[in-house]
Amino acid sequence: MTRQDVIARLTDVSIGFPAMDGTVENVIDRVSLTIHSGERVGLLGASGSGKSLTALSLLGLAPPPGTFVGGTVEIQGKDVLTSSKSERGRLRGGAVGMVFQEAESALNPVMTIGAHLEEMIRRHRPKEAARWRYIAVDLLENVDLDPVRTLKSHPHRLSGGQRQRTLLALALAGDPDLIIADEPTSSLDVLTQARMLGLLDRLCRERSLALLLISHDLGVVSSLIDRVIVMLDGTIIEEATIQDFLETPIHPYSQSLVATARRTHPQVADL
Ligand SMILES: Nc1ncnc2c1ncn2[C@@H]1O[C@H](COP(=O)(O)OP(=O)(O)OP(=O)(O)O)[C@@H](O)[C@H]1O
Ligand SMILES: [Mg+2]
Repeated sequence: MTRQDVIARLTDVSIGFPAMDGTVENVIDRVSLTIHSGERVGLLGASGSGKSLTALSLLGLAPPPGTFVGGTVEIQGKDVLTSSKSERGRLRGGAVGMVFQEAESALNPVMTIGAHLEEMIRRHRPKEAARWRYIAVDLLENVDLDPVRTLKSHPHRLSGGQRQRTLLALALAGDPDLIIADEPTSSLDVLTQARMLGLLDRLCRERSLALLLISHDLGVVSSLIDRVIVMLDGTIIEEATIQDFLETPIHPYSQSLVATARRTHPQVADL
């Protein structure tokens, strides 16, 4: 694959929720974005600006009672919204792996991590189902978790940071080309945060993965990303390379993001 290959593309995607008066209110409105092979994109914006819904829409998902009101979603050139259920299942988790914002609720509390990994590997790599345990051990080692202990653990036995890394191992299980990580560090202490970002960086390099990294904190993610997309109130207000964005943010909200990042993260101030 060349770098210019498009892995995922949203074109004019709107997601609406039913309002009290019976109308439908668009909470993300005509959002368009493209993620190419191997690139790392930061999706920034305040709480409630529509980052998580945009990430879900990239998988062709709108959380009920939300629905797609308009637009198209393409993964590897396939129209996700009109493709068959099995094709959609293959694209979700196969081409695109997701690390959900709520690590706790993304895991089934009565299943061990081993059972989660077995299910993912059987679904996305059926030919390798018989050797799922070897693949699972390898994936857990890749995300710096103790495979023996983690495989037999239930989600509540893991720390927040271990749960995030488990989600990352699960997202990698389908051998995706793109990882979407929705606030993968927001509930972690500073050291665990740095470790998670270092891990994402290494995995992207080793596996030539593209990354959509969602955060409200530019300072935390700026060193990891090539390009920034900024959302405000359900729309994209700015898109730029990270260098251009740090040098000349255009929208007032972008300017405040950069100013905050420079104040709170000395490494950004030096750029
Ligand atoms: N189930 C729902 N019903 C109604 N509105 C919803 C629902 N889920 C999300 N929204 C609305 O959609 C908007 C975007 O939500 P989203 O979760 O994408 O924000 P976000 O940018 O990820 O925020 P955060 O940084 O807090 O995670 C918000 O205003 C939210 O209130
Ligand atoms: Mg969110």
